[in-house]
Amino acid sequence: MQHSKLMRAIVFRDYGDPQKVMELVEDCKIPKPNKNEVLVKIKCASVNAADGYIVRANYFIIRMVFGLFKPSKKKRILGMDIAGTIRDIGKNVKGFQVGEAVVADIRKSFGGGYAQYAIVHAKHLVKKPEEVSFEQACTVPISGQAAMMGIILCDIKPGDKVLVNGASGGVGSFGIQIAKAQGAYVAAICSTNKAEAVKSWGADKIVDYKKKDSIKALIGNEFDAVFDTASFQCSGRYKQILKKEGKYVLVGGDFYNMLKIKLFGRFRRGSQKFMALTQKVEVTTNIKTVLKMIADNKIKPAIQKVIPLQNVPEAIHSLEQRSVVGKIVVDLNKEVSAHF
Ligand SMILES: NC(=O)c1ccc[n+]([C@@H]2O[C@H](COP(=O)([O-])OP(=O)(O)OC[C@H]3O[C@@H](n4cnc5c(N)ncnc54)[C@H](OP(=O)(O)O)[C@@H]3O)[C@@H](O)[C@H]2O)c1
Repeated sequence: MQHSKLMRAIVFRDYGDPQKVMELVEDCKIPKPNKNEVLVKIKCASVNAADGYIVRANYFIIRMVFGLFKPSKKKRILGMDIAGTIRDIGKNVKGFQVGEAVVADIRKSFGGGYAQYAIVHAKHLVKKPEEVSFEQACTVPISGQAAMMGIILCDIKPGDKVLVNGASGGVGSFGIQIAKAQGAYVAAICSTNKAEAVKSWGADKIVDYKKKDSIKALIGNEFDAVFDTASFQCSGRYKQILKKEGKYVLVGGDFYNMLKIKLFGRFRRGSQKFMALTQKVEVTTNIKTVLKMIADNKIKPAIQKVIPLQNVPEAIHSLEQRSVVGKIVVDLNKEVSAHF
């Protein structure tokens, strides 16, 4: 396959403020796939909350994974979910062809999506349905997949009452729509200026936590499930608004709250269940399910804007500032310089 040996990418060589430590380079080597991998020419990638945590090394565990003092050389390109076309293919890879449109979660290889090309292990590849655009498809492997996994754990039946916290975010936007598609009544917690968007995704009731304590405001309601993507307060508070047999599923938020639920959630007394997201269904299976729901017009990724690669640091900053509603997508074909 003929292509230039260098590619454009956003790299971070140090930990810190994304707008200071991330830079656009044009001389990254295009990686070569081994026999079980493919090389994907990326069309779109999506920006995730985890990008900011990693660049800032907010938690010590990030330094243990990405490099103690500096991010290690092989882990300097973030971008955890991609959609693109196969450019080169390892000799053991079966069932895929050069030129085919694919989608992948590349967290296990520490990212690589903020670049023109990325290596993907064949077992992480999912074919992109034609009806789903590349822009839509790249929002699915992380946000859509996590939402699907969380809603599966919520075990929703038609008519159930579900509360989504962090409703305006990437995962929340999918969570609301998937729960609605399963026939649930959805109440959604978000901030004032995002309420309109959240309503447009199908939420039946909006609880504005900027105006009043959201849990206090909901006392008297009984939810079958709470789907929490912004667990920044004690999860135990949800006990008062959960049914006796209700389920609380923590998808994201404060790392230590998540750890607490992972370690101690199962020891809670009573029949309410408190759990953190666990991968009970394979990631690729969930990705396929969500892609199919989009292809069938049952849900629609909430894309706030599509940006060129060089704006990734600014987009991560916007996520940190909480000025994003839904997802930001990076289009690798936007403003790519002539020699690529
Ligand atoms: N385990 C997994 O596989 C997985 C996958 C994806 C995401 N996650 C985690 O799930 C969480 C949500 O992800 P996301 O992509 O939906 O993030 P996001 O797009 O940034 O959305 C998070 C939402 O939470 C709300 N929020 C409330 N309090 C907040 C606070 N103190 N700080 C920040 N946001 C706050 C914000 O809405 P308002 O502005 O309306 O308050 C924001 O829209 C993250 O922690 C992420 O790491 C986990």
